[in-house]
Amino acid sequence: MSTTVLDRTAPTDAPVLDILAERWSPRAYDESSAIDEGKLASALEAARWSPSAYNNQPWRFIVARRGSAAHAAIADTMIDFNKTWATKAGVLVVAVAELESDEGRVHPTAHYDLGQAVAHLSVQAHHDGLFVHQMTGFDAPAVHAHFDLPDRLEVLSLLAVGDLGDAAQLPEGARERETAPRERRPIAETVLVND
Ligand SMILES: Cc1cc2nc3c(=O)[nH]c(=O)nc-3n(C[C@H](O)[C@H](O)[C@H](O)COP(=O)(O)O)c2cc1C
Repeated sequence: MSTTVLDRTAPTDAPVLDILAERWSPRAYDESSAIDEGKLASALEAARWSPSAYNNQPWRFIVARRGSAAHAAIADTMIDFNKTWATKAGVLVVAVAELESDEGRVHPTAHYDLGQAVAHLSVQAHHDGLFVHQMTGFDAPAVHAHFDLPDRLEVLSLLAVGDLGDAAQLPEGARERETAPRERRPIAETVLVND
């Protein structure tokens, strides 16, 4: 497949690691390629080794390869816009927070810890040539119910993970977003106190 190569490197105001500047969230995935299992294992391993409060590791993942029953069930819960592109990625990963241990111990920073684990997963995946696009445009309670998860687990987000496809093949709307300038507010508006 001939792919339109996009340079989506962030125009940072201060130098950052190449991997952080170069990571971005595509919508053009190659639906002809299966996930590289070694790279997927590395991405999950990176999440495994991220830090967490009390080393609680309050993250869980549902890994659903394209073509599987789990993949079809998750895809079914996506908003229409996400269905148009995210179903083409080799894998969908559901990110799940463990709010409480099975012994009833509360994990107050479960969301924070899960987000950090997903960040590590994303960076490792990007380093290995996989692309990650996180989503909340899906029915999280429906996924929770489908997989019969206990109440102490909360479905938080969904990740499309796979090989980059051709942006030119995207439906209108998604195609424009793929090439729109990457923007962030200035750091001065983010740092509340800088004494
Ligand atoms: C928690 C979360 C939820 C998101 N939900 C969606 C979504 O449902 N659909 C979508 O197209 N993009 C979604 N995004 C992608 C963001 O729009 C994207 O990360 C943001 O515009 C920054 O772009 P970048 O990741 O390329 O730097 C989501 C991102 C995050 C972190």
